[in-house]
Amino acid sequence: MSETLKITDLQVAVEGKPILRGVNLTINRGETHALMGPNGSGKSTLGNAIMGHPGYEVTGGQIELSGQDVLEMDASERARAGIFMAFQRPMAIPGVKMAEFLRHATTNVRNPERKEGEDLIPMRQFRKELTEKMGQLKMDTEFARRYVNDGFSGGEMKRAEILQLAMLRPKFAILDETDSGLDVDAVKLASESIADIINVEAGGAEMGILIITHHDKLLDHNTPDFTHVMLGGRIVETGGVELAKELYTDGYDRIRAAYPDAAAVGEEMKEAPAGV
Ligand SMILES: Nc1ncnc2c1ncn2[C@@H]1O[C@H](COP(=O)(O)OP(=O)(O)OP(=O)(O)O)[C@@H](O)[C@H]1O
Ligand SMILES: [Mg+2]
Repeated sequence: MSETLKITDLQVAVEGKPILRGVNLTINRGETHALMGPNGSGKSTLGNAIMGHPGYEVTGGQIELSGQDVLEMDASERARAGIFMAFQRPMAIPGVKMAEFLRHATTNVRNPERKEGEDLIPMRQFRKELTEKMGQLKMDTEFARRYVNDGFSGGEMKRAEILQLAMLRPKFAILDETDSGLDVDAVKLASESIADIINVEAGGAEMGILIITHHDKLLDHNTPDFTHVMLGGRIVETGGVELAKELYTDGYDRIRAAYPDAAAVGEEMKEAPAGV
């Protein structure tokens, strides 16, 4: 049976303020989903809640990974279970080198039963794989010696996230605006790279992916099976690839008119953002 990430009536609050108001979304492994929606509608909040970010309080609903209760797991257990997120604004980890970080993360995800202190993937094997993947992503190998995201340019950060995706081969991946800040060539490379990583016939990993984006370029090589539109903390409409193209070209006026209740909630959220 295919594996599934199932989100049911998910409600999430940030600092006591409700943000997600009943999100339903099912992603099967092997499917590509696009998530669009105006700024502040709750897209990143959904990703953060799926990953178990401590600032995002789940006040109702469920998240299940092939029947397992994800809400019972802490963030590292979720990563080991095969859920990955490339963040809109990745955090820097000064003092930890990319290669070191990737070797630990890759070992943990590939061998979820591993106890702290047990062997990591053998250095030689890891190096070989890392060099190969970096070559595919047109990244200088020097990059692996730098501290994670420390002083990385916007484009380098996003590429580093794609490198993580390639190395970790998670079951489910959430890519939050992996295209933001990338120049045109870099978006094309990112789109092609993601497609390669998940191309099972070419030896890639079978993943369910949720691509959060405001553009359609990242989708060029990753045609979504489903496109979802978030408005006011809810997914109000789901369609195919043509919906992504429509929203990119025409914006959200039709959506706001069709779902006035969600649009009103969206306006309220804009007026009173949760305190930071
Ligand atoms: N950590 C946080 N602290 C305070 N408020 C937050 C936090 N995370 C989300 N919010 C609030 O929740 C609402 C939804 O934010 P979210 O980042 O999920 O939007 P988004 O759909 O990802 O928008 P964008 O397209 O701009 O990335 C906003 O009002 C935002 O200010
Ligand atoms: Mg966001």
